[in-house]
Amino acid sequence: MTTSLLSRQIEDYTERYTTPPSIVLAELNRQTNLKRGDAVMISGHIQGAFLQMIAHMVRPKQVLEIGTFTGYSAICLAQGLQDGGHLHTIEIDEELEDMAAEYITKAGLRDKITQHIGPAADIIATVPGPFDLVFIDADKQNYERYYDLVFPKLSIGGIIIADNVLYDGEVVLPIEQQSKNAQAIQGFNNKVKADKRVQHFLAPIRDGLMVVRKVSE
Ligand SMILES: C[S@@+](CC[C@H](N)C(=O)[O-])C[C@H]1O[C@@H](n2cnc3c(N)ncnc32)[C@H](O)[C@@H]1O
Repeated sequence: MTTSLLSRQIEDYTERYTTPPSIVLAELNRQTNLKRGDAVMISGHIQGAFLQMIAHMVRPKQVLEIGTFTGYSAICLAQGLQDGGHLHTIEIDEELEDMAAEYITKAGLRDKITQHIGPAADIIATVPGPFDLVFIDADKQNYERYYDLVFPKLSIGGIIIADNVLYDGEVVLPIEQQSKNAQAIQGFNNKVKADKRVQHFLAPIRDGLMVVRKVSE
């Protein structure tokens, strides 16, 4: 999967005109790229800055993230928490726990972020809402399921952001040429589009972010 659908030149320009990441985020990005063969999954500078901006606008009391990886997006989203606010992040791979914890601590967020290890579908049920902001960034086959599980726990006016909704551009291909994951993403996008309880905006940032605002129950 690509990290961006933009040309390299436009991506470089976008980075130059976006607030640089903090020292901790830059180090986390560097270490993730050094240590992880799957580093392409990290949100990184531009998407991280966007998530931070949204979090500052929403000022959430509670955030839920599905898919911690090495903690980059969790640290970004936690920047906008209200005083006393909290972020819960879920990751199935226990080998990622220590690295994410190290950088969450370095970012001064240890008491504001709870890391949950296990399958997201099981853990979502155990974390009480309401959530003001949810970031879905895990296994694509389960996006629709995660949407259904978190929706009743999302406050009115709350925001869901889902990553990879352009799936490397595959979503515009005929369905029979799409991978299984791209088909799952297409199903998720159709579900959001048909949902009368929400307003939504597909932001073509990086691999595509679906931004959904809950209007009614
Ligand atoms: C794209 S990465 C998340 C990137 C992270 N949000 C960031 O921006 O740096 C997706 C993560 O979801 C995790 N994941 C996959 N399936 C999962 C599941 N069923 N439950 C919880 N986490 C899962 C993967 O192990 C991986 O670390």
